[in-house]
Amino acid sequence: MTPEQQIIIGESPAFLEVIEQTSRAASHDRAVLVIGERGTGKELIAARLHYLSPRWEQNFVQVNCAALPDTLLESELFGHEAGSFTGAAGKRIGRFEEADKGTLFLDEIATTSLSAQEKILRITEYGTFQRVGSNKILNTDVRLIGATNIDLPEAADLGEFRHDLLDRLALDVITLPPLRARKDDIIILAFHFGQKIAQERSWQSFPGFSESMSQTMMDYHWPGNIRELKNVVERAVYYAEHEYDPIDQIILDPFNSPYRPKRPPIKEIKQQARDISEMPKALPGPKDFQTLTMKFERELLQQALKDNKFNQRQAADYLSLSYHQLRHQLKKHALL
Ligand SMILES: Nc1ncnc2c1ncn2[C@@H]1O[C@H](COP(=O)(O)OP(=O)(O)OP(=O)(O)O)[C@@H](O)[C@H]1O
Ligand SMILES: [Mg+2]
Repeated sequence: MTPEQQIIIGESPAFLEVIEQTSRAASHDRAVLVIGERGTGKELIAARLHYLSPRWEQNFVQVNCAALPDTLLESELFGHEAGSFTGAAGKRIGRFEEADKGTLFLDEIATTSLSAQEKILRITEYGTFQRVGSNKILNTDVRLIGATNIDLPEAADLGEFRHDLLDRLALDVITLPPLRARKDDIIILAFHFGQKIAQERSWQSFPGFSESMSQTMMDYHWPGNIRELKNVVERAVYYAEHEYDPIDQIILDPFNSPYRPKRPPIKEIKQQARDISEMPKALPGPKDFQTLTMKFERELLQQALKDNKFNQRQAADYLSLSYHQLRHQLKKHALL
C-alpha cells in the first residue's frame, strides 16, 4: 500500500471512536481482529495498526486467505520443504517467517481451514510452527491481525471456526461502522474521491456536487460501503463533461436497464449445465416434442428400474415418484 492509498478520511463520532481504538490497539503487541461489512475499510485499519505500532519499520505482510485453496494456503503461510507435495520444487519460506518481527495481516481469516486455524493458534500462543513436509520446529515473532466480514462467534458455534483461536484473536476487536451509520462522512469522502479523479482528468479544480446529487448520496443505504461510494463518484466524475458545473449526474446502479438479462447466478447456471449433461444426448428420429419426450421418459424409467435391480418401490423413490405414479408410467410405456 502506498502512503497515498493509506489516507483515512472521516469525522463522524462512530468513525473517530474506531480511529482512537486503532491507535490504542497499535501500541500493544497483541493480536487484533478487524470486523466489518464489505468495503468498510478493514485493510486500511490493518495497515494503520501496523504503521502506528512499534513494529512499523519491520515487514507488513498481507495474505488474502480466501484467494488460495486450503492446501496451498498452508504452504503459503508456513512455507514448505522441497518436494513436500506435487509441484513444490524448491524450499519456500512462508509468510509467517517473512513477517518475523513485523506484522502478518490475514485478510478473510474466516475462510481458513480448521487445520490451518490450529497451526495459526500454535504460532500465536507459542511462536512455533513447522514448514509443510518438515518436522523441524521453527520460531517466529509475529503480530497477527485478522479481518473478516462474517460473524465469527456464530461461525465458531457452527463448528466452522475454532473457538480457541477466536478467543485468542478476540483480545482486541475493532468493528468498523458501515457507511450508513456514519452519514456525516458521506459527502466528505465523496469530495475526497471526486478530487482525486478530477486530478486524474487534469481538471484545474473540482466543482463539487449539486444539491440533488448530495441528497441522493445522503439518502442511499450504501450496501457496498466506502468502496461503492468511491466507484459511484468515480463514474460520476468521469461522465461529467467539464469541470465548471457541480457534478449532477449520479448512477447508483450501473446495471439498471430495461434490457438487463434475467439470468440466475453463475452457481445455478453451472448446476443447470450439469443437470443437462446428465440427460440423454439428442435422440435420432423424428423431431416432434411428443415422440422425443415419450422416448426420454421411457429411457428414464428403464434406467431407474435397472439401477434399482427392478425393485419398483425403490425405482419410484429414485425418480421422486409415488409407487402408484411409477406403475402408471410403466403401464403407459408398456413396461409392465
Ligand atoms: N475512511 C476511509 N477513507 C478513505 N478511503 C477509504 C476509507 N475507508 C475505505 N476506503 C477505501 O475504500 C475501499 C475499500 O476499503 P477496504 O479495501 O479497506 O475495505 P474492506 O473492508 O477490506 O472490504 P472487503 O471486505 O470487501 O475486503 C478502498 O479503496 C479504500 O481505500
Ligand atoms: Mg478487504
